[in-house]
Amino acid sequence: MRAAILASGNGSNFEAIIQAVERQEIAMEVALVFSDKSNAYVLERAKNHQVEAVSFSPKDFSEKSVYEAELLHLLEEYQVEWVILAGYMRIIGPCLLEAFPQRIINIHPSLLPNFPGLHGIKDAFTAKVPQTGVTVHYIDAGVDTGPVIAQEAVTVAEEDTLESLEAKIHQVEHRLYPKVLAEISHNYKGA
Ligand code: GRF
Repeated sequence: MRAAILASGNGSNFEAIIQAVERQEIAMEVALVFSDKSNAYVLERAKNHQVEAVSFSPKDFSEKSVYEAELLHLLEEYQVEWVILAGYMRIIGPCLLEAFPQRIINIHPSLLPNFPGLHGIKDAFTAKVPQTGVTVHYIDAGVDTGPVIAQEAVTVAEEDTLESLEAKIHQVEHRLYPKVLAEISHNYKGA
């Protein structure tokens, strides 16, 4: 399957995914990494793995719908079939949702439906829940509401700090996301 990875920041999930692709555990061609932030470290990581890296910002366009139309145009140009969100900090609008029905996947650092939104780890930590985790899900029109594909729980220990909890969550993410994508890619029969 041909995929684009969309990310806004560090790109540690991209790194985990591309390494699994290189080990041929995921039957996926990463056609492109796109970032809405021109200084995102993920763009550097993409170049290190010889993956095409493109960036432009909604601020470069008159409105969000025009930005999305341009992004869709880019994805079509690269013949992308699946869109993998890996720390892409924007809502996906109707233009992309309609173009990729059940073909946009996201990873979220909590056990959805608990703690949706931008601060899933911090919100769970502050709420002092005994357990949080990681969710991989399809994107729909809501914020972190689409159908769940896989979840893995992470125990919040007495001695955990926000930083140690973040580290535990990221460790699970880096294992779970490649595993889910491997399954999807092996079941995918083409467009
Ligand atoms: C991850 O925690 C992911 O769950 C969330 O954004 C973070 C991205 O981290 N959606 P990275 O850029 O992959 O390192």
